Amino acid sequence: MATLQYLGHAAFYLEGQGIKALFDPFLSGNPLASEGPEVRPILDYIFVSHAHDDHLGDTEAIARRTGAVVVATNELALYLEGKGLKTIAMHVGGRVSLSFGRVKLTPALHGSSVSENGRVVCADQPCGFLVEVEGKKIYHAGDTGLSMEMSLLAAEEVEVAILPIGGHYVMDAEDAARAVELIRPKITVPVHYDTFPSIRADPVGFARKAGGLTEARVLRPGESLHF
Ligand code: NI
Ligand code: MN
Repeated sequence: MATLQYLGHAAFYLEGQGIKALFDPFLSGNPLASEGPEVRPILDYIFVSHAHDDHLGDTEAIARRTGAVVVATNELALYLEGKGLKTIAMHVGGRVSLSFGRVKLTPALHGSSVSENGRVVCADQPCGFLVEVEGKKIYHAGDTGLSMEMSLLAAEEVEVAILPIGGHYVMDAEDAARAVELIRPKITVPVHYDTFPSIRADPVGFARKAGGLTEARVLRPGESLHF
């Protein structure tokens, strides 16, 4: 059995057979974070959906400390390699087989860039992740608007979908419920809300809207689900 622990915003800790990993580890400076960047002693991978601060977050410090390999799109991976990190550079639509299972990058309608001293030093395409653990698939959507591409995920038989509901920069609860209709995941966890005033949302309302089609699980930061 694998475990997904919600760490707040879009950050998760994943543990399953052959894998200990983080998704989008925005922990320092995250008012919802249930743990700090120093907590996990052993990590194999860090999946980073895009370079915005609230996703790239503490990736550099955590990867340096643990030796975890960062999985990201090519441009972001090259940028992080330049900082001395180990990476797996992929791109949207690509799939790789890793020791624990397969990973595919999925499309995301959003932006991605890193600025240093007020200058953009890396502009990139954002992504989501389809990660196979113990034969089951997790879809971490990253930051995205609703898109028809999501209907392609129905054939993947997603076990757990992690979908943003905060609106403003990403899907709101209404569009996330429509995404559930396209993806048909067994379990859905709403994320990316209430971290900042501009992304206030009602996860229980989302759960009610989507509840007929999926098992909607509203997790508080620090809570886990097993699948
Ligand atoms: Ni973003
Ligand atoms: Mn974001």
